Amino acid sequence: MKFEIRPYHPSDLFSLYKICLLTGNSGKDATDIYEDPELLGHFYAAPYAVLEPDVCFVATNNGKPCGYMIGTKDSQKFYEQCEKEWFPVLRKRYPLSEEGVDSMDEKIIKRIHAGHIVKPELKDYPAHLHIDLLPETQGQGIGRKIMEVFISRLKELNVPALHLEVGKANPGAIKFYEKIGFYKIHEYEYSIAFGVKLK
Ligand SMILES: CC(C)(COP(=O)(O)OP(=O)(O)OC[C@H]1O[C@@H](n2cnc3c(N)ncnc32)[C@H](O)[C@@H]1OP(=O)(O)O)[C@@H](O)C(=O)NCCC(=O)NCCS
Repeated sequence: MKFEIRPYHPSDLFSLYKICLLTGNSGKDATDIYEDPELLGHFYAAPYAVLEPDVCFVATNNGKPCGYMIGTKDSQKFYEQCEKEWFPVLRKRYPLSEEGVDSMDEKIIKRIHAGHIVKPELKDYPAHLHIDLLPETQGQGIGRKIMEVFISRLKELNVPALHLEVGKANPGAIKFYEKIGFYKIHEYEYSIAFGVKLK
């Protein structure tokens, strides 16, 4: 296995969708819990790569994408851009179902319709990220390395601080963020927001 980290390239987009699904159940394979295999990627992966590719990075194994670090420099601007350029087409493609439908697909469809807001407790941490590595890539220091690459890019771009949200059902990822120097900003019912200052 030969791992490398490089900037995102448009030809990686399909791999991002796949990796997002293969790690989308609190870090584990979500293939069996979503009927539409694209939905998770529509919300959690593709908009970053399409709208803000300058802060997206890909880990490769012998040249093949096996993980990513994607994000935004400024969550507020990114959310506004999603409203204009990303969600409208998806909202038409995936209309909300009748009340009472409560599948995993429907949960993501509801998020697509609701859009994003910057939570007040996170407004001093404008950048945010998502990191997902396939199982063969985990536990070998690649997560730490791709985070260093991402953070050094944000520093070059003068971004003051960064946050992320992790589900409480993903204790391995929580340990990872604590190990690499993130601290808890806020605890929600099902997730924890971690952050780090860059200046
Ligand atoms: C979570 C994830 C990004 C961590 O990346 P990684 O490459 O496996 O982590 P690294 O090997 O760089 O580990 C860095 C440090 O975190 C610790 N760590 C990483 N994963 C851990 C785990 N599951 N349990 C405990 N500690 C862990 C390592 O021990 C290491 O500490 P050390 O440097 O003191 O030895 C990766 O495992 C992953 O993508 N998992 C699946 C998807 C996911 O859960 N994404 C996060 C969603 S919020």
